[in-house]
Amino acid sequence: MERLQIIQGDITKCQTDAIVNAANTSLLGGGGVDGAIHRAAGSELLAECRTLGGCPTGEAKATKAYRLPCRYVIHTPGPIWRGGKAEEDRLLACSYRNSLAQASALGCKTVAFPSISTGVYHFPLHRAARIAIDTILEYLQAHHEIACVTMVCFDSVTLSAYQQALAETEQKHA
Ligand code: APR
Repeated sequence: MERLQIIQGDITKCQTDAIVNAANTSLLGGGGVDGAIHRAAGSELLAECRTLGGCPTGEAKATKAYRLPCRYVIHTPGPIWRGGKAEEDRLLACSYRNSLAQASALGCKTVAFPSISTGVYHFPLHRAARIAIDTILEYLQAHHEIACVTMVCFDSVTLSAYQQALAETEQKHA
């Protein structure tokens, strides 16, 4: 089995050990995938999030998953795109790396990610996809406790951007 898979789907249906939520720094819910995850998990998720005291951009905090079919939700606020000169690339890589570190710490073997920051936060899609793929592959090379990471793309445009980013990385390392 490939250790990095890219699919189109709805992350709230994923039965991986953990799913990652593209949150905001309050961790109190929102729209997009954040809203979908909170709706599917139920109100207990928000109740647990209220106890966390927020989360800085690029860092990650885990909660239980309640009514979701996974075991944990790992919440990470990605960076808001401000033109590319405010450490956005570095902070996006941190969101992926710190979420994976949380998953490892929780003993997760499988993790699903949405396309962090490329919705409401307007991070350019192809640039985000390259950062995501490179950061995930780098982590998987150093951490064999994670068996499989799945990028769950909500639409076909996002799917092809991540497939292209993976193909570009594979060509570079061929
Ligand atoms: N499953 C998988 N991906 C989804 C789902 C879903 N159910 N719903 C939306 N997405 C996708 C979007 O299509 C987009 O590709 O998640 C990606 C991230 O978009 P957003 O959810 O807008 O997240 P982001 O750009 O990181 O902005 C975060 O939005 O929802 C608020 O509270 C959140 O303030 C925070 C901000």
